[in-house]
Amino acid sequence: MPHLLHLDSSADLATSRSRAITAAFAQAWTARGDDFTVTHRDLHRDPLPHFATNEQHWPAADRLPGAQVPAEQDELTARIHAELLAADVLLVGAPLYNYTVPSTLKVWLDHVHIPGALAGAGTQPLAGRPAVVVSSRGATYDAGSETEGWDHGVPVLRIVLGNSLGMDVHVVQTSATLADRLPELAELKDRGVTEFEAAKAAARELGATL
Ligand SMILES: Cc1cc2nc3c(=O)[nH]c(=O)nc-3n(C[C@H](O)[C@H](O)[C@H](O)COP(=O)(O)O)c2cc1C
Repeated sequence: MPHLLHLDSSADLATSRSRAITAAFAQAWTARGDDFTVTHRDLHRDPLPHFATNEQHWPAADRLPGAQVPAEQDELTARIHAELLAADVLLVGAPLYNYTVPSTLKVWLDHVHIPGALAGAGTQPLAGRPAVVVSSRGATYDAGSETEGWDHGVPVLRIVLGNSLGMDVHVVQTSATLADRLPELAELKDRGVTEFEAAKAAARELGATL
């Protein structure tokens, strides 16, 4: 039974573009048949707790003897791992917040990026599985522009999901999302709309085929 793990992390529940794009993917996925199932984890509405205080808690798979880690934290990490391992495809809504991923998504990454469990040489149970990253950014970060390289959200997801976990990362991106709200970005309004429509179409295509 093909299963999708769908994560959202935008704090905007009304007009979020990343949520609209992940929803387009999920709709195309479920339209493929009743056996195409979904687990939806909303990291904004239902945030995961940060790690408990203990300098020895990471990586969980290679703890120093005697490390004191609260049982609830281990149980939560195990639950997050099981949820991810049960997924044939991972879908991640990742708005750009202060040039990186939202802190709610970062906590999820802290739970999954565990060398010796899900990551690292010889331990990549998710190797080759598709991960679709949906990135929405208020401004633009074009090659050759002053802000080229300022987006640290997609790169960290590529490194953790792709390099460390071995997943096959696809990126669907939309920029200039604030062009209809910020006067200084007003000239990018058309581009913002065009990129949003293209991103939804790309997500639908991936949802229908991955
Ligand atoms: C807390 C916060 C920080 C943001 N930081 C950035 C930023 O660093 N760069 C940027 O281009 N846009 C930034 N934005 C704008 C968002 O990237 C933009 O609104 C995007 O569309 C959010 O995704 P969403 O539409 O799925 O909510 C920020 C928005 C918020 C709420």
